[in-house]
Amino acid sequence: MSVKSHLMLAAALFSSIFVPPVAAQLHTDCDPMEKDCPPDPAFGTTHTFYFNATPPQDTFKLTAGKVEYNPDTGAAFTMRKKGDSVTLMSNFYFFFGRTEVLLKAASGTGVISSIVWSSDVLDEVDWEFKGGNESYAFSNYFGKGRQDWKNGGDHLVKGGVLNDYHNYTCVWTKEQLEWWLDGEHIRTLLAKDANNTDNYPQTPMKLSLGIWAGGDPDAEKGVIEWAGGVTDYSEPHTMYVKSALVEDFSTGKEYSYGDRSGTWESIKIVSGNSTAFESIHKEPEKSLSDKWNDLPSGTKSGIYAAAGVVGALLFGALIFYYLKQRRRGQQEAALAAQRQEQERVELERFKREGRDPDALAFDGAEYGAKGGMATTAYGVPDSPPGSSAGPPEKTWDPTNSSGPAAVPLLHDNAK
Ligand SMILES: *[C@@H]1O[C@H](CO)[C@@H](O)[C@H](O)[C@H]1NC(C)=O
Ligand SMILES: *[C@@H]1O[C@H](CO)[C@@H](O)[C@H](O)[C@H]1NC(C)=O
Ligand SMILES: *[C@@H]1O[C@H](CO)[C@@H](O)[C@H](O)[C@H]1NC(C)=O
Ligand SMILES: *[C@@H]1O[C@H](CO)[C@@H](O)[C@H](O)[C@H]1NC(C)=O
Repeated sequence: MSVKSHLMLAAALFSSIFVPPVAAQLHTDCDPMEKDCPPDPAFGTTHTFYFNATPPQDTFKLTAGKVEYNPDTGAAFTMRKKGDSVTLMSNFYFFFGRTEVLLKAASGTGVISSIVWSSDVLDEVDWEFKGGNESYAFSNYFGKGRQDWKNGGDHLVKGGVLNDYHNYTCVWTKEQLEWWLDGEHIRTLLAKDANNTDNYPQTPMKLSLGIWAGGDPDAEKGVIEWAGGVTDYSEPHTMYVKSALVEDFSTGKEYSYGDRSGTWESIKIVSGNSTAFESIHKEPEKSLSDKWNDLPSGTKSGIYAAAGVVGALLFGALIFYYLKQRRRGQQEAALAAQRQEQERVELERFKREGRDPDALAFDGAEYGAKGGMATTAYGVPDSPPGSSAGPPEKTWDPTNSSGPAAVPLLHDNAK
């Protein structure tokens, strides 16, 4: 459940007491029902991402926190303290399709593990797991960000959601949406049953995997209740995702909205191979030994012979160098110190040129600035489609890399 879902849930819970729910504070970087937006990068293919290692470039990005990839457990999303919400979000969109996620939910009261599809017009499809409810998985959907309060489903999971990996699958066509649990078809939503198709999720979706604190003490009371209570931060809680298969039922390079209707009929597909497709199918860089093996044998023996001569020469040179080096130990040390000084001076010049290195830390700052939404950080917007902005924790800060000497410089400059 994203920020939207939270707020709507809260609105739902309180609407009988207070005024009718105002439009919740949903977020999308650009809502194609309101204005023209850049096209969404498509997926246009089928691929299983095994999270024993970092996924291929340009396929997923971290919108918050840090994921550890492990050959045995897959991707580990750990919540260690208040404000932690670790989220991996696809850069690509699929337009009708299927995802199969093998996930083991995090334990802990008020800790929510989630698999979320979300679109630019705030269509959404969810699987959610409460760390305080080991027996149930929760399904949900939203059309155009609208909550009609009856969309959620709860599903008993044999063996429990916290103790082992389960196969959480959704299959989505323009006619219907299906939720499958370990190979069993457990729920169907027919498009016509979702407000006569108007609230049916039907626009290109991104896939997000994340952990967040539904029970953050600063969250709305209704959300905390939904989450099963105030989040237990006394120990770390980890959600694991072994793999995620994504199948895009459309093929193309980009999806864009042809009008403001937010309907599947309005989606235009630009043909071609998607960035994600190219990245996944890129030939791996050949290793040196592969390149060597590719050489014809005549070339190889020539190289061996030459190498013999070169080797002998090198050996002599090395002896000479070694002897000389011993004498030059002192000089080397002096040179290293000089180099360090040069780097320091360079950094100083960098700053004098008016390029404030801190300004580069925009991601972190921006994220922090939304502190008020800490509990709902899951819904914090990702970078605009096509943006290459990196994960927030990876911001480059030259004042760190150049050692303590750089710090006083900042002050000197400020004067
Ligand atoms: C878990 O969720 C189910 C379904 O909503 C509910 O009936 C049950 O009481 C919950 N159990 C706990 C321990 O919260
Ligand atoms: C997950 O479940 C789906 C739906 O039943 C099935 O088609 C698929 O083979 C399963 N995937 C894995 C990895 O077990
Ligand atoms: C159902 O769709 C109509 C538009 O066709 C919209 O005005 C209305 O708010 C929707 N109802 C709900 C409960 O979302
Ligand atoms: C897409 O990729 C396939 C396979 O790599 C290639 O054969 C084809 O030419 C590519 N198409 C375009 C439009 O680049």
